[in-house]
Amino acid sequence: MTTPDLTRSRWTGTPPAPDPLPGGVPSAGAVTTPSAASAHPSGLPGQRATFSPELVRGDFPILHRTVNGHPLVWLDNGATTQKPRQVIETLAAFYGSANSNIHRGAHTMAREATEAYEGGRAAVADFLGAPSPDDIVFVRGTTEAINLVAQSWGRTNLGPGDDILVPVLEHHSNIVPWQMVAKETRARVVPVPLQPDGQIDLDAYADLLSMRTQLVAISHASNVLGTVPPVREMTALAHRYGAKVLVDGAQAVAHFPVDVQDLDADFYVFSGHKLFAPTGIGALYAKPEVLHGMAPWQGGGNMIESVGFGGTTFAPVPHLLEAGTGHISGVVGLLSALNWLTSFDRDAIAAYETSLMAYAQQAMATVPGLDLLGSAPDRIAVLTFTLAGHDPSEIAAWLDRDGIAVRAGHHCAQPALAHYGVQSAARASLALYNTAEEVDKLVASLLRLHESA
Ligand code: ALA
Repeated sequence: MTTPDLTRSRWTGTPPAPDPLPGGVPSAGAVTTPSAASAHPSGLPGQRATFSPELVRGDFPILHRTVNGHPLVWLDNGATTQKPRQVIETLAAFYGSANSNIHRGAHTMAREATEAYEGGRAAVADFLGAPSPDDIVFVRGTTEAINLVAQSWGRTNLGPGDDILVPVLEHHSNIVPWQMVAKETRARVVPVPLQPDGQIDLDAYADLLSMRTQLVAISHASNVLGTVPPVREMTALAHRYGAKVLVDGAQAVAHFPVDVQDLDADFYVFSGHKLFAPTGIGALYAKPEVLHGMAPWQGGGNMIESVGFGGTTFAPVPHLLEAGTGHISGVVGLLSALNWLTSFDRDAIAAYETSLMAYAQQAMATVPGLDLLGSAPDRIAVLTFTLAGHDPSEIAAWLDRDGIAVRAGHHCAQPALAHYGVQSAARASLALYNTAEEVDKLVASLLRLHESA
């Protein structure tokens, strides 16, 4: 086996051979079938590989399995994305020939693993448009990143009478850590209401901002409504009051390019596993001036300079916030996933997903009794729905019999569902490898469920 170059920051290999299968099969009626966008049909260094969903599917072994006798239709990408073979092979190669702890040994293996780990940090900085790899802290995922900010920055900077503004559409992981630190510091978590279509009520937001506001915590894309809020504008407004802004990018990063400097975000967080990388690895970006003021939140190895019973001195950030052995293979897998994803024209991917979403919305509207939650104009490809007469868990079980995976339940966003007067819903969440043919299968199965009643 050839050991892959784990440290390169760009995928420069030959793109995979095109899949001979035809594209998404159009369905009948007035529904417009999305066409696959394409970019530079070249695998030359510095140039983008061609993007088409059919070609990309060839990279995902799992998409070729069957479930309950049917080809798998994976529409649970909001929960986790599948992994391309490049990531799977990189993980096997790392454990097969490159495994070592980092930052500790004076041996070749430790040096190579350290280079790969720090190469991952540089790739994340590049991916987010961050000024420096030193602005990136590795964490288990979005939830841990938000808890880190709440416990480190929050405990230092929040106090009695301070406000933390949190829109109603947020995931529980962007609500509960703030409630916990607010209780400790006697600050307040203030919900920012939604409009009927699932957009954040920006007039209410402007009214709620004040000199008491220390932090605004907003999703870059909602996991249940798909809403993409105007984060840059909301951040600029928050900064007028001296508030910091944390952006939860968990549902955004796989769908459209992110530039933290353009957003002017103080914090940006995401999980690798929603970005074609392994579980258990994610990243926190913080502006250097904010990061340098942050206190350690966990103590242990890797985050110290020297330890004595008379006193301990600490390593500089970002290592200060990374106590213990990090998820080294996770970082290597994340690096591979970023190389894979950024080998394509990301604007072409976003355009394809937008057209697939429009197709899915039209197709699902043909199912009697189906209600889609959220209709904000700017959305990622998330379709959360109820079907009259059918419990969401029954819908998910029915679709599963046809090999179609969707999530059902409260989606860790109970306030967002309560905005629509429901406690539970089904959700199909799409990714770059989904096709119109898969949407047709979803809709056909839902029509059969409706007719079975
Ligand atoms: N936050 C993930 C989801 O929305 C798990 O499904």
